[in-house]
Amino acid sequence: MINKKLNISFFLIVAIAISTHGQGNTPRALKEAYANKFLIGAANDLTMISDAEAANIKMHYDIITPENCMKPQPIHPSEDKYDFTTTDALVDWCQKNGLKVWGHTLGWHSQSPQWFFQDKNAAAAEAATQAATPRPAADAPRPGAGRGITGPLASREVILERLKSHIMTVVGRYKGKIIGWDVFNESIADGGDGKTENLRNYSWYQIVGPDVITLAFKWAHEADPDAELYYNDYNIEQGAVKNTGKHASSMLLLKRLIAEGAPITGVGIQGHWHLDTNLDDVEKAIENYASLGLKVSITELDVTATGSNSGATGVRQGDRTIPAENYQKQAEVYRKLFEILMRHADVIDRVTFWGLSDTRSWRRGQDPLLFDGELNPKPAFNAVIEASSYK
Ligand code: GLA
Repeated sequence: MINKKLNISFFLIVAIAISTHGQGNTPRALKEAYANKFLIGAANDLTMISDAEAANIKMHYDIITPENCMKPQPIHPSEDKYDFTTTDALVDWCQKNGLKVWGHTLGWHSQSPQWFFQDKNAAAAEAATQAATPRPAADAPRPGAGRGITGPLASREVILERLKSHIMTVVGRYKGKIIGWDVFNESIADGGDGKTENLRNYSWYQIVGPDVITLAFKWAHEADPDAELYYNDYNIEQGAVKNTGKHASSMLLLKRLIAEGAPITGVGIQGHWHLDTNLDDVEKAIENYASLGLKVSITELDVTATGSNSGATGVRQGDRTIPAENYQKQAEVYRKLFEILMRHADVIDRVTFWGLSDTRSWRRGQDPLLFDGELNPKPAFNAVIEASSYK
């Protein structure tokens, strides 16, 4: 009897030893592998997740970013109407399951409703003015400033009041439940030489002016003084090594925000990348942002296994059939990236993957994430886990 018990114990010990040895003692859950380094996140609205996806989220992630439901258009479709249904449910689910939530996004040129900018009453007056005088009035809406916004624009004061009210309401509602916010998203235009901030020449930046970003940070801080507040953008690592292009513009913008007293705590490098992404730029960008006293997060990470992917429109989709070797290359990009992040873990707050799996991703078809459509870990998953032991 005693012998039998001893035998069973022996087999158990051997079995445990083999299984942990095989994995080099590295945890198999992403959030455990990076515990005490930085948070690991995923983006999804959590409206239609399967049981398997829910289990995968609970196992691997510390934090959720709502993929869409918190953007200005869905959450605040008209001036007097907010829709918190999806975001309330998401925050509730995360709280019940021990996950944190990141807020995305307060100010953005895209997915923001027209009412923010339109003059409610001016349409009729404008029509009357045009009928009386064929030439545009001196204070007529600036052509192109709204890009796609119809009708006369409201005054700067009115638009700012609307933005303030939006921020106070949304951030205030989730005070203490959401750890931080992307306050402004994607303000810098593509293709600049880096000698100026190169803000987009429409939407908030033209209609209100560049100080809109600073004001938004101040209001978000007023609404929740404990929340981390980020500026978030894509391709802002590009040009970091030579200090040119979009990276140089981002440095000018961030320095101005700091000089103007914006309570900014960090920069979100979105991280919509591909097999040829220049990782030297990524590392240098992290160093440059840290030199301004800012934290850094990779906020929307995906690395396409085919084609290009930058966050901008007009990406190259790549091959429909992805060669097996691409998944190895993808794993190596993820490995090098996470080794860089480990080297700079003291300034990295969070790394969030943009989606849950290759089929729950805006880059579906380019297989950009760590799990395939059945949630099986890919070579990229193993590489990310292995990189967590990087010294
Ligand atoms: C940008 C935005 C995200 C999302 C992606 C595409 O990166 O910041 O909210 O819209 O594009 O899903």
